[in-house]
Amino acid sequence: MGKKSSSSGRWLDRQRRDPYVKRVHEEGTVSRAHYKLEQLDRKYRLVAPRQAVLELGAAPGGWTRYLAERIPGGLIIAVDPLPVAGGPGVQVVVGEFGEEWVDVRIEELLAGKKLDLVLSDMAPNLSGIRAADQATSIHLADLTLDAAGRWLKPKGSLVVKVFHGEGLDAWFAETKRKFEITRMVKPDASRRESREAYVVATGWRRE
Ligand SMILES: C[S@@+](CC[C@H](N)C(=O)[O-])C[C@H]1O[C@@H](n2cnc3c(N)ncnc32)[C@H](O)[C@@H]1O
Repeated sequence: MGKKSSSSGRWLDRQRRDPYVKRVHEEGTVSRAHYKLEQLDRKYRLVAPRQAVLELGAAPGGWTRYLAERIPGGLIIAVDPLPVAGGPGVQVVVGEFGEEWVDVRIEELLAGKKLDLVLSDMAPNLSGIRAADQATSIHLADLTLDAAGRWLKPKGSLVVKVFHGEGLDAWFAETKRKFEITRMVKPDASRRESREAYVVATGWRRE
C-alpha cells in the first residue's frame, strides 16, 4: 500500500479520531448528526412531548430517531429523497422539499394542525463549484423559512443548518425580523473545519 496522503486517507484518519463517530457505534445512534441536535436541544429546550414537528433533510434518520424518542404522542414529518429510519409518531415523506406534491402531502399529514418546531439539516449535493453550492444552500434555507411562515404556530421554533458565505447575512437578517430571538451557533459535534453552523430561532412572530 502506498503512503496515505489522499483525501480518502485523510477522511479515514479523521473518522477514526472522531469521538462522535465512536459514539454512533457504541450507543447505536443512527448518525453522528444525532449529537448536534442533542446539543442544541439541551441548550435551547426545543423538543417536548406531543409536539408537531417538520424535519427537512432527515436521512439517514439520526435526528428523526432523537425526535421520536423525545416526543411521545407527537407528530414528526420527516422529508428526504433518501431512505429515513422512522420510529413511533414518524411519517416519512420520500421526496425533495420544494416540490409541490411534497407540500400537498405535508398539508394532508398536518390536517389543519400547526407546527411547534421546523428543523432543517438539508445540505446541497456538492457540485464542487463553491458559489453554486452556496447559492443552493441559501435556497434551501429560504425554503425552510417559507415552511415556517406557512405552518409554524405563533411562538414556534426553527433550527436550520446554514453555510457561511454569500447570502447568509441577508438570510439571517430576514430570519431575525421574524422571531423574537435568533442566534447562530456551532454545536461541539459540528466539525470545526466545516463552514456549517445552525441558526436557532425561537418565538415566531405571527406574520
Ligand atoms: C446532513 S444530511 C441529514 C442528516 C440527518 N439530519 C440525520 O440526523 O441523520 C442532509 C440531507 O439533506 C437532504 N436534502 C437535500 N436537499 C433536500 C431537499 N430539497 N428536500 C429534502 N431533503 C433534502 C439530503 O438528501 C441528505 O439526506
